[in-house]
Amino acid sequence: MTTDRVTVASPATLSNLGSGFDVFGLALSEPFDVIEARRTSERGVVIESIEGRGAENITRDPTRNSAGAAALAVLEGAKADFGVVLKIRKGIRPCSGIGSSGASAAGGAFATNLLLERPLQLEEVVRCAAQAEQVTSGSFHADNVGPAVMGGLTIVKSYEPFRILRMDAPEDLGVVVTMPDVLVDTKEARKVLPQNVPLKSMVFEVGNAASLVLGMCRGDIALIGDSMRDIVVEPARASLNPHLLEAEQAAIEAGAAGAFLGGSGPCMIAIYDRSSGNGEAIASAVREVYSTNGIDSETWITHAGQGCRRL
Ligand code: HSE
Repeated sequence: MTTDRVTVASPATLSNLGSGFDVFGLALSEPFDVIEARRTSERGVVIESIEGRGAENITRDPTRNSAGAAALAVLEGAKADFGVVLKIRKGIRPCSGIGSSGASAAGGAFATNLLLERPLQLEEVVRCAAQAEQVTSGSFHADNVGPAVMGGLTIVKSYEPFRILRMDAPEDLGVVVTMPDVLVDTKEARKVLPQNVPLKSMVFEVGNAASLVLGMCRGDIALIGDSMRDIVVEPARASLNPHLLEAEQAAIEAGAAGAFLGGSGPCMIAIYDRSSGNGEAIASAVREVYSTNGIDSETWITHAGQGCRRL
């Protein structure tokens, strides 16, 4: 029997993880958005309400809203003969660097998929959500929507043809997210990226990305942290993310295994070993950097988590 109404939680995600630009993504246990989808006989998508963090600046036009565009892509992909009404509660502020639009897109696609008589495969749901990312950020990237749908760590093996792989992240992988009171728009942050990369840089990035995956397989958090260095994308975005390097340095000095820019920013992400490290100490060291420079910040001490789940 099909369901007429469903509510899902869709998590924040870390993309890039330093060395894996547009490739790596990790689902977090919190924060998350909550999306309700209700079946209607009218075709198309209606966004009934948007509440929560940053809701006032988010469009309710379903063709330009991440959740709406993702729901439309699923309905179209499944050739559904009905429509959906969405209610969105944002737990993740837009322009944060922890996959705010990705969480809504994944939640919109996932919830709509649950209303279908014959649901699409998860990889197809990810593709529909990535189409919505293209609408809002101007680029088809799946490193936020992938883990938001599938959970754990995801690796976009290739975009053409689209193929995404998933693995569990180590239990002890702790994550400290610090969000400075700065807004960074992904569309703008992609404009500053270099179009060509020197061969030497490519070797550096591939070496680190491969080592990061080995660290995930072995549960070696020191190796994961040491493999998050990126010499291509982060430096290009430094001017959009004030005090990033100091914040990363402070996190490492406070015991983090690694630190990087969350997605296109401005969140600064530090990872640590939950079995031996102290997330509070890392968070307070990073906050101190921003507050000394007159910037307020908010912190989550969290860890890897599952993808979209039904509430
Ligand atoms: N990989 C994307 C980027 C993620 O860094 O632009 C955006 O959230």
